[in-house]
Amino acid sequence: MVGVKIDGKLIAQSVKDRVKKAVEELKKQGISPCLATVLIGDDPASATYVRNKHKACEEVGIATKDHKLDVNITQSELTKIIDELNSDRTVHGILVQLPLPKQLDEFTTTSRISPIKDVDGLTPHNAGLLSMKKAALVACTPSGVMEMFDYHGIDLEGKNVVLINRSNLVGKPLYHLLLEKNATVLTCHSKTKNLTELCQAADIIITAVGNRNKFTLTPEMIKDGAIVIDVAISRFHEKLVGDSDYDKIIQKASFATPVPGGVGPMTVAMLLKNTITAASLSSQIGR
Ligand code: GUN
Repeated sequence: MVGVKIDGKLIAQSVKDRVKKAVEELKKQGISPCLATVLIGDDPASATYVRNKHKACEEVGIATKDHKLDVNITQSELTKIIDELNSDRTVHGILVQLPLPKQLDEFTTTSRISPIKDVDGLTPHNAGLLSMKKAALVACTPSGVMEMFDYHGIDLEGKNVVLINRSNLVGKPLYHLLLEKNATVLTCHSKTKNLTELCQAADIIITAVGNRNKFTLTPEMIKDGAIVIDVAISRFHEKLVGDSDYDKIIQKASFATPVPGGVGPMTVAMLLKNTITAASLSSQIGR
């Protein structure tokens, strides 16, 4: 039996509709939510992602500030810019687009962001809070995936979830979010042995490898009725693809996300949601 498409565009729109109303409420209280983005260098994919984030902000009435920095910027110059945004009272959220050029350190950069403006949930403060079930700001892609489960009423309790990613942006936050919902979570990576067998035993597979030359999640690797969330997006044979071929996987899965039009739009929608959360946090502490 063919499974159900988890339509990221549709679910993202429902999140955006809610955010738009929340923005109107905040504006009535004299708070005008604003997201500052920092894009370093000229990577075309990163530039497109940032442009999409600005467009989405505009759609829901969130103001934006756009910082485009030279690819050769030093760590101390970048730190200075982040510090300025941290103390700018008109800015509520700060997003430094990743990956960074090689002279810049990701931890040094992201941990410099004020935790209440950390709309990526990447600071040690917010990552720590997440592991204790206390996070207000959670990484956007993981919270977008959780929103998809929620939208379809998918109960995670007792489910065996295989997560194929261990990054700070995707795998680690998802691990905590899934655990909070009482799923049994197995985090897999490039050194994991018997990945095919582990996937075949999983009720839910969340995959985010992003390199089709190295890895493809095929229908043979999943059990009948499994749920497949494909977080990856990469260019392969001139096409944008995930880790799996949606048309094939949906023949066997009970639910699956397409690429594009799956998790991608959710990441952007959750960024908007985090920006209004950050604006509320700032107003609560009088900043
Ligand atoms: N690069 C790819 N995804 C993301 C994301 O969610 N946040 C940031 N800051 N950079 C990214």
